[in-house]
Amino acid sequence: MSLYIGIDLGTSAVKLLLVDGEGTIRNSVTKEYPLIIPAPGWSEQKPEDWWDACLAGVNELLTGFDRKDVAGIGAGGQMHGLVILDENDQVIRPAILWNDGRTAEEVDYLNETIGREKISEYTANIAFAGFTAPKILWMQKHEPDLFARIKKIMLPKDYINYKLTGVHSCDYSDASGMLLLDVKNKCWSKEMLDLCSVREEQMPKLFESFEVIGTVTPETAQAFGIPETVRVVAGAGDNAAAAVGTGVVGNGSCNISLGTSGTIFISSEAFGECPENALHAFAHADGGFHLMGCMLSAASCNKWFCDEILKTKDYAAEQVDITDDKLGKNRVFFLPYLMGERSPINDTDARGTFTGLSMDTTRSDIMQAVLEGVAFAIRDSLEEAKNIGLDIRNSRLCGGGAKSPLWRKIMANVLNITLEIPQSEEGPGYGGAMLAMVGCGEYASVKACADALVHVTKCIEPDEEIAALYEDRYNKFRKIYPAMKELFKEIK
Ligand code: XUL
Repeated sequence: MSLYIGIDLGTSAVKLLLVDGEGTIRNSVTKEYPLIIPAPGWSEQKPEDWWDACLAGVNELLTGFDRKDVAGIGAGGQMHGLVILDENDQVIRPAILWNDGRTAEEVDYLNETIGREKISEYTANIAFAGFTAPKILWMQKHEPDLFARIKKIMLPKDYINYKLTGVHSCDYSDASGMLLLDVKNKCWSKEMLDLCSVREEQMPKLFESFEVIGTVTPETAQAFGIPETVRVVAGAGDNAAAAVGTGVVGNGSCNISLGTSGTIFISSEAFGECPENALHAFAHADGGFHLMGCMLSAASCNKWFCDEILKTKDYAAEQVDITDDKLGKNRVFFLPYLMGERSPINDTDARGTFTGLSMDTTRSDIMQAVLEGVAFAIRDSLEEAKNIGLDIRNSRLCGGGAKSPLWRKIMANVLNITLEIPQSEEGPGYGGAMLAMVGCGEYASVKACADALVHVTKCIEPDEEIAALYEDRYNKFRKIYPAMKELFKEIK
């Protein structure tokens, strides 16, 4: 039976899956790489580290399998990161990542000087600090010599695809987050390229996520011991890939991801925008579109609190004392803006806070506040979706944070919706493998592939009483950021 490699190029690690044509995960390997924080609120990684991790990881993934059975490769990758190559195909500087907040000035220039209306008309979105276009403007101003050397601009997973195939490609879902794509018409926006002093030949060729961009190069085939006929599909931004992996395709389904970032992703067949661009309007990996809210620190808040503050790796043990009777009654609140925040407040100066501490506050109250703060911030984006009349009653849930039964329960009650857990929580990697299956003709469409392979194994229903308590808590949470907003500017 044919085998497919799904790549999830994340922020903390690359997660590789080996999946067969019937959707069974046959093997998985995770390889971590460092995150570089050159200044507070900045965030970079070396593309060479991603590739080294893929090289080592794929070889480990295929150990014990017949490498001749590998038919296709598909990647979902962290979005928005600026990867630039010179004329010798060398990486010019470390990639500036999706959660990097250095571009406040450039965002202001695009949204205020050029104007939100124009930017939104060109791209269907407004500027946010993590998006790619403001980073290009930042480089032009702060690193003009490096800027002048740029031959190719690409996104993180496209660098991996380039190393695999030698083809400079990008898919529409990931390209949407560059703020250089006319999302509605699925082409590069000439106006945006001009604004950023970028020529179209520096940009990748655009594909649908399930389209084959090429086959692996002889060097890649040799490095992995796989046939030169192995096809590589364009892949997708990690959220679109995760949505495919959880079966959120077609019209009106929802996926929530609790990864390093936290996202709420609503798929639709037709293009649609959100007034004021509160949610991103992006293309989907199934050929359609989606609206998305993205918070910058979700499962990473839990990781930060446990690793850095509590100095423990036993995350589950920290949640044991948070019993059902405590849900909805916590008097401690946490603002999860450890890297500033994107949706919906769009504020690079925002920071984390604990509010409501008292002498009887316990370690587990604070732990609970961290998990709840993330859920409340996702609710902020859900409210934006409700404001435009979307009636979301249930959602798939994926990502590392979705493994915690407590966090699932908190999420279901704070959002007051049913959460459905698919058989694989490995959203982007599984979605990447599914896109490869479609590209290789194993399934006729992304929808057909999702119908055949994705099954819900568990539903978490909100509890009426707990949800009512959380409604009250959420209404208090909502007041904290506006009260802090001006102060955040002063203490940055
Ligand atoms: C989405 C976003 C994040 C990254 C995380 O807009 O910035 O979800 O894709 O990898």
